[in-house]
Amino acid sequence: MHGTSRWFPVIRSEEIVPRHIAFVQLLDEEIVLWRADDGALNAWENRCPHRGIRLSIGTHAGSEIVCRYHGWRFASGSGSCTLIPAHPSQVPPKAARVRSYQIRERYGFAWIALGDVEGEPSLPELDGLPHLTLRSMTFAAAAADVAATLASEPGIVVHDPYRAVWERMGDAAPMLLLLQPESSAMTTLHAVAGNDLTGAGRLAFLRAHNAWCKEIRPRIVSEESRSAQASR
Ligand code: FES
Repeated sequence: MHGTSRWFPVIRSEEIVPRHIAFVQLLDEEIVLWRADDGALNAWENRCPHRGIRLSIGTHAGSEIVCRYHGWRFASGSGSCTLIPAHPSQVPPKAARVRSYQIRERYGFAWIALGDVEGEPSLPELDGLPHLTLRSMTFAAAAADVAATLASEPGIVVHDPYRAVWERMGDAAPMLLLLQPESSAMTTLHAVAGNDLTGAGRLAFLRAHNAWCKEIRPRIVSEESRSAQASR
């Protein structure tokens, strides 16, 4: 499946906080994510249609984003320009519209599809279970290199280039490891477990995951370096 024809998790929902413009990258596209005051979630190209300034340095005005450069305002949902401050009585042209992407919230993440995609984001292993999202990690490595290292881990089965299932923490239900290819050389690994542990059990689970994160990071980076050297 081509990368633009599928859903990718790009950020945990809890990180899209009120009146904040979040920034992510997917397949070399810079994307801003923001939640309007009415709860609607927007995923937009990080580029003002006026002069191309990054919208990530703009202002969240509740139901609009205000570009930092000339103050054009763009509406939640449509991405259409609602006001050009230098010409306040003029109706903004239809072409003054931010490019937007499909976005969904499921399993504790915001998911984006850059192109046409069938269906909704789906992690069948977690359906019917609670969801506990875990810390994400970004690696200076291609998604294929991250997936190759994951595949060498005991208990981890890589199901497709961007998705693996980990049964190692068996008694705590399956954990899904999801790759977000930010670019050809940068990958973020997201994790979500199907458990609703509380108290000491949850703490122990989070500690175990943190320990694994520390342990896997140098191995992924060093394997990526080795494959880069081998290709020279
Ligand atoms: S560049 Fe955004 S309003 Fe001019």
